[in-house]
Amino acid sequence: MSFDSMWAALEQVGRNPGSGGYRRYAWTQEDATLREWFAGEAAVRGLDLVEDRVGNQWAWWGDPDAAAVSGRLGVVVGSHLDSVPDGGAFDGPLGVISAFAAVDGLRAAGFVPNRPVAVVNFGDEEGARFGVACSGSRLLTGVLDATRALSLTDGDGVSMAEALAKVGRRGDQLRPDPEALSRVGVFVELHVEQGRGLVDAGRAVAVASSIWPHGRWRLDLAGEANHAGTTRLDDRRDPMLALAEVITTTRHAAHKHGCVATIGKVTVAPNAVNAIPARVTAWLDARGPDEAEVRAVMAEVAAAGGGASEESWTNSTAFDADLRDRLVSLLDGVPILATGAGHDAGILAAVGIPTAMLFVRNPTGVSHSPAEHAERADCLAGVDALTKVIADLAGPDRP
Ligand code: GLV
Ligand code: MN
Ligand code: MN
Repeated sequence: MSFDSMWAALEQVGRNPGSGGYRRYAWTQEDATLREWFAGEAAVRGLDLVEDRVGNQWAWWGDPDAAAVSGRLGVVVGSHLDSVPDGGAFDGPLGVISAFAAVDGLRAAGFVPNRPVAVVNFGDEEGARFGVACSGSRLLTGVLDATRALSLTDGDGVSMAEALAKVGRRGDQLRPDPEALSRVGVFVELHVEQGRGLVDAGRAVAVASSIWPHGRWRLDLAGEANHAGTTRLDDRRDPMLALAEVITTTRHAAHKHGCVATIGKVTVAPNAVNAIPARVTAWLDARGPDEAEVRAVMAEVAAAGGGASEESWTNSTAFDADLRDRLVSLLDGVPILATGAGHDAGILAAVGIPTAMLFVRNPTGVSHSPAEHAERADCLAGVDALTKVIADLAGPDRP
């Protein structure tokens, strides 16, 4: 299976013809189709498919448990296949497809790995359905408590436990999987760049340095439902006004503290054109280079909104410096970029696994949107870089 044929196989899965973007959410039919595709790609290559206790998929080339006996832990590459609502085609799938393509290239060249190699598909990276990003890797590592995860609900009030049951999975078996994690000696995630760093640098591929600290919060703004025509302005308790204040406070606070902050999701009840809303729920995403400044933004927004509950938080994550430098020199001095986007690589790095990321140029600089893009030649440059990285990391032991 070539890069192009894998790309074509996924092109229509979960595509929204209206926007041209993708809707691939955890534990849905689209998710099942993507998992089947991944299992099929493993099978045609004779890779051993292993699902961890969380449902992340690992396709192993070589036996990780046999190799571990002699201390040769796995070299893992891959990413995720889910998307944000109306997301682009590249965020996630580029990393998984490139990983399979890199394995194919190595095998075609007769490369014999000195340690096992795996392609991974982390589930629910975007958290688009249940609100917590990277829930597959957070559950795997124990960073996200399984009981809490099972009680998270989607927009229709369906809990993760119910969603799992609906696809024939047992939520009560959801728990951290130290055994699966112990097979990972090193993880390298290739990802489309989600900004214009590589466009500005005039390069196709970069290595990541760090991920900004970031979090998600929910604000519940209460009002009083009433008639839009008969309620005097002075008598209203309209939570939309509170929302407006929260939104402008968010923008000003982010600017003041050198951060970015976004209110990108809102629900309004009852959501009628001729009724003052009873309540508004808003979700805020805040990130920045400095943890204390992100917290300061949140403190100001919470004060404006009468409180905010934290749904997830990720500390600043620096990728392994030795590994980063090794990749940069292997790849002829590619640029090093920090990012404001969260990734499963960040979750694994935070629990002490040597982890790195490769970014592939995105000419639009846009992501989490159908406008996200990467030219085919740059995608193939990414595959080539990943191939070199695997050959190096899974090659003969260094003296
Ligand atoms: C994941 O893509 C995130 O940074 O929200
Ligand atoms: Mn994303
Ligand atoms: Mn991603």
